[in-house]
Amino acid sequence: MRILVTGGAGYIGSHTVLLLLQAGHQVVVVDNLSNSNPEALRRVAELAGRAATLHEVDILDHAAMDHAFTEAQPDAVIHFAGLKAVGESVREPMRYYRNNVAGTVALLEAMERHQVRTLLFSSSATVYGDPHAVPILEDFPLSATNPYGRSKLMIEEILRDLHRSAPEWSIGILRYFNPVGAHESGRIGEDPNGLPNNLLPYVTQVAVGRLPAVSVYGSDYPTPDGTGVRDYIHVVDLADGHLRALDYLLRGPGLLTCNLGTGKGVSVLEMIHAMERAAGKSIPCRLTERRPGDVALCYADPGRARQLLGWTASRDLDAMCADAWRWQRDNPDGYPSA
Ligand code: NAD
Ligand code: UFG
Repeated sequence: MRILVTGGAGYIGSHTVLLLLQAGHQVVVVDNLSNSNPEALRRVAELAGRAATLHEVDILDHAAMDHAFTEAQPDAVIHFAGLKAVGESVREPMRYYRNNVAGTVALLEAMERHQVRTLLFSSSATVYGDPHAVPILEDFPLSATNPYGRSKLMIEEILRDLHRSAPEWSIGILRYFNPVGAHESGRIGEDPNGLPNNLLPYVTQVAVGRLPAVSVYGSDYPTPDGTGVRDYIHVVDLADGHLRALDYLLRGPGLLTCNLGTGKGVSVLEMIHAMERAAGKSIPCRLTERRPGDVALCYADPGRARQLLGWTASRDLDAMCADAWRWQRDNPDGYPSA
């Protein structure tokens, strides 16, 4: 198959491109490199023994997208491109709506022009807002608490409207829980710009000595140890979920909405202790105030993905930490600057 991957140089994209290449697909990446480094795709090529073609293009650039589609002649599109920092989205909402929402509309129009009607979209557990119960099922009520989350929700609604009006489309909405870890080679991984917003990259940067201590945001949640509970999923399992979902979509038109998580909740303190085991050192942390907007508990019911896609996450918390640590230890400053 020929697959066009937007945002394929990023964290989840690069791991998915590797698996696509290893499965024998032809891959064309469209990425403006606003939050990624082309070195990721060079290393993917090294690992796969063959390369994806990179178009350094913004998905909002009509002419450049037409050129990429004409060259790629894709059977399907996997759409990772988007901005993802919650705090930044509160400060710069228009940038998020333009890049994520208008960018997706532009992509869908380009797909229609080129008669490509199979799409996998990166949504997020953030669309469940503050869930009334756990584990979370796909038919739970949807809401958003910040512009980033709202951009995901808007895109989901656009995709549902599109499918209603044009049922010949085959669309997969994948709601990721908390992607962590890195490829087991230690060659590709998550390389956040500046101070990490997310727990695991923060913890590994403390472990490697780049940051002094982890702040644990809240220890009075109604959870077993008082700290926030999340469903961390190994990025390679997540990437594998995309290959399974792609197989499913290519069987025929339809609209698939699926959680991608492990179904297991892990607390902030459990995560820090698991990383201490992986890195073989203690990780300084201090208990601080809750972070505004955080929920106490968020984990998936992964039953639908198991049933429809035959997919379950196979890597456990120790593997997530071992692989995240190998990446951080071998690349303490992330990818070398381009
Ligand atoms: P990332 O920032 O590493 O990757 C996104 C890629 O998209 C980057 O390479 C960036 O340069 C590119 N990009 C952004 N805007 C673009 C544009 N207008 N045109 C072309 N390229 C553009 O992020 P990631 O963690 O790999 O996330 C991938 C997707 O998954 C995003 O849509 C994100 O919202 C979603 N998601 C991520 C998480 C997470 O915790 N990492 C959780 C749920 C959903
Ligand atoms: N946390 C800390 N200290 C930190 C960072 C995080 O204690 O320095 C805690 C948070 O309070 C939370 C847990 O660690 O309890 C996980 O926090 P992350 O920021 O890693 O992840 P979130 O679940 O808050 O958010 C992530 C993505 C969002 C997405 C959401 C739902 O970052 O974009 O999952 O999918 F919307």
